Amino acid sequence: MNLAFTEEQLMIQDVARRIAIERIAPVAAEFDRSGEFPSETIKVLGENGLMGIEVPHEYGGAGLDSIAYTLAMIEIAAADCAHSTIMSVNNTLYCNGLLKYGTEAQKHAYVTPIATGQAIGAFALTEPQSGSDASAMKIRAVASADGSYYTVNGKKSWITSGPVARYIMLFAMTDPSKGSRGITAFIIDTEREGFHRGKSEPKLGIRASATCEIELTDYRIPAEDRIGNEGDGFKISMGVLDAGRIGIASQAVGLSRAAYEASLVYSRDRKSFGQSIGSFQMIQAKIADMKCRLDAAHLLTLRAAWAKQQAAATGARFSTEASVAKLFASESAMYITHQAVQIHGGMGYSKEMPLERYFRDAKITEIYEGTSEIQRLVIARNETGLR
Ligand code: CAA
Repeated sequence: MNLAFTEEQLMIQDVARRIAIERIAPVAAEFDRSGEFPSETIKVLGENGLMGIEVPHEYGGAGLDSIAYTLAMIEIAAADCAHSTIMSVNNTLYCNGLLKYGTEAQKHAYVTPIATGQAIGAFALTEPQSGSDASAMKIRAVASADGSYYTVNGKKSWITSGPVARYIMLFAMTDPSKGSRGITAFIIDTEREGFHRGKSEPKLGIRASATCEIELTDYRIPAEDRIGNEGDGFKISMGVLDAGRIGIASQAVGLSRAAYEASLVYSRDRKSFGQSIGSFQMIQAKIADMKCRLDAAHLLTLRAAWAKQQAAATGARFSTEASVAKLFASESAMYITHQAVQIHGGMGYSKEMPLERYFRDAKITEIYEGTSEIQRLVIARNETGLR
């Protein structure tokens, strides 16, 4: 792995850092409190190429690579996890998925508006009864007799950006008798008849990232909006999630860095028993353990991004690297934000400082895009070759 970043990678990191510090950090607490979708700052991300970092210029993106995406995600997440959630779904689950599996016409019609930030994309896999066991979905897509369209009926839940998305990558069962091999991927336009947004989820953290149920009732999808062949859907969703998990690992690293850096400042400034609390060994041990986990998570995430970049040329899978990075970075984010609250004492528990928000936001990284238990399952299955 080459750890020397290119000029372009450093440039996008710099753009993201500037927006994070100047535009996002000042409003993050207010959006967390109100739970409103931060449309204005998300628009700024789009205008600066951050909503389609890996999307080639011809489809409206920044034309950069996976490492550039990781570096930018870390900066945005360090200012606000919710913004980075919206950014990651747009970039990876939506754009990356369509770029990899979509037709040329689909890319032009459905990637460009999302990569340029004119519209928001989403990814609909989970259903009320099927989260980790994603292939147990019930939503049905039935092909018309002449094969020109599909009619979809069913529900999806926990759809990140669902309340605001214009286009959604949707997974539906076209042949239930085939299990995971009977799932097909589609692109849906939320402005068509038969699409309904359901209840919004009130959440512990990432409150400014809007999440809701969606329901499709006799919703018609033209056959040209099917992604890949019938039955390819489950593998497409797993391939997309491999990439998505690197985004969540990056998010966890950014969040951890923010909590760690705040703890360094506080441990120097806060005096107790006549000295900086950072000179007490119990605080020093926390700082050292936080630093080790932060650096390890950062390196594992860069390794996963690098593996994804290699895979673009070889077609190899990078599932293990992605799951290792996501598992370690998300569990480290929980550890680091927990220690950061403890170091800050009462101020860590107060809404006057961002520590309690970091702590609440960290939890989701252990849950979405595959729980820690699913990451362990993927890693162990890949390593042992056993099921
Ligand atoms: N890439 C390509 N193909 C893959 C794959 C991958 N990473 N992983 C599995 N497959 C293929 C397998 O090779 C297999 O192919 P065959 O049928 O040809 O043999 C097929 O998919 C089925 O694989 P499994 O038998 O391993 O499937 P499984 O039912 O045992 O499930 C699982 C595997 C890892 C548990 C999977 O269901 C999983 O990852 N679950 C978690 C789902 C998840 O992450 N949900 C998050 C929702 S999205 C979200 O959170 C977004 C958001 O809002 C931010």
